[in-house]
Amino acid sequence: MVASADFGNLRLALNDGGGRMPALGFGTLIPDPAVTINATRDALAAGFRHFDCAERYRNEREVGEALHAGLSIDGLAREDIFVTTKLWNTNHRPERVGPAFEASLERLGLDYLDLYLIHTPFAFQPGDDQDPRDQSGNVIYDRGVTLLDTWRAMERLADGGRCRAIGLSDIGLDRLAPLYEAATIKPAVVQVEAHPYLPETELLEFCKARDIVLLAFAPLGHGLKPGPLDDPAVAAVAARVGKTPAQVLLAWAVQRGTALLTTPKSAARARENLDVSPLPQDAFDEINRIQTRQRFNEVVKTGSPGFIPRGG
Ligand SMILES: NC(=O)c1ccc[n+]([C@@H]2O[C@H](COP(=O)([O-])OP(=O)(O)OC[C@H]3O[C@@H](n4cnc5c(N)ncnc54)[C@H](OP(=O)(O)O)[C@@H]3O)[C@@H](O)[C@H]2O)c1
Repeated sequence: MVASADFGNLRLALNDGGGRMPALGFGTLIPDPAVTINATRDALAAGFRHFDCAERYRNEREVGEALHAGLSIDGLAREDIFVTTKLWNTNHRPERVGPAFEASLERLGLDYLDLYLIHTPFAFQPGDDQDPRDQSGNVIYDRGVTLLDTWRAMERLADGGRCRAIGLSDIGLDRLAPLYEAATIKPAVVQVEAHPYLPETELLEFCKARDIVLLAFAPLGHGLKPGPLDDPAVAAVAARVGKTPAQVLLAWAVQRGTALLTTPKSAARARENLDVSPLPQDAFDEINRIQTRQRFNEVVKTGSPGFIPRGG
């Protein structure tokens, strides 16, 4: 178990030899551009130092703008924050990986990334349409590239020095294990949905044994109700320890050794989601005993996001 009085400042060592990822991350999957800017600024001002982006979110420019403004107002340096973005499914062909990385950097206004993830292990038809579909509405997959082909291109980026660590997202053990064996540069981070209703215990054990950080998205179950936020066991622990249900869920996630992402849209919620401290052992155990099982995001099955930001 992680022992720290203050999970808000906790950093997890990455297996790349130097990187340290703040355990509490701010996710930028926000459909509205103005909300993206305000929420990102509020998150930085509240103390978030880990920002999770993606070309698929179509708002890297707004996130970059908000980060640059916030860094200068708060007197922070680029090195003070940890920025991740993700390669989308339509860019899996090795010759597309470098240009996609450069385009993300340009939109974010950065000259290096702390972490670059393959967003999903599903390759879509290459091209500018992020959601290629046939006439029946089915996703058009690209059978001409393997995940290992894409990973080799990611390794070349990591060798280039402007991408400090690489990893994967929305992947199960069935595909992660062989990729891990074949990889020259091992994945530093795996980002998947995880919360008490989907603890991903086997995947977490695999990752821990190999110094891979498991980065949980939807730690609050995407905020959906019914869901972990209004689970009776979570509510009971929250009342007992004097924290909110969200803070209990976030503490549980960090305490079991994962990093996490939330997307607070207000300054007050940003502060709430950073004000996270360890649960007493009995409370931690109580959350572990929750039996409900539910996945909220189907992206891991098809590569298609459960919900998509603004169109166009
Ligand atoms: N790799 C992938 O495929 C993938 C998929 C999904 C998400 N992600 C990443 O994960 C990030 C996190 O998103 P998420 O949806 O998974 O986050 P989440 O934190 O599980 O859910 C966000 C929802 O929780 C609510 N919320 C946030 N803080 C709260 C609090 N303290 N109390 C009550 N409700 C609260 C928000 O409500 P309000 O909107 O009202 O603030 C929002 O509706 C994303 O931004 C993205 O970076 C990755």
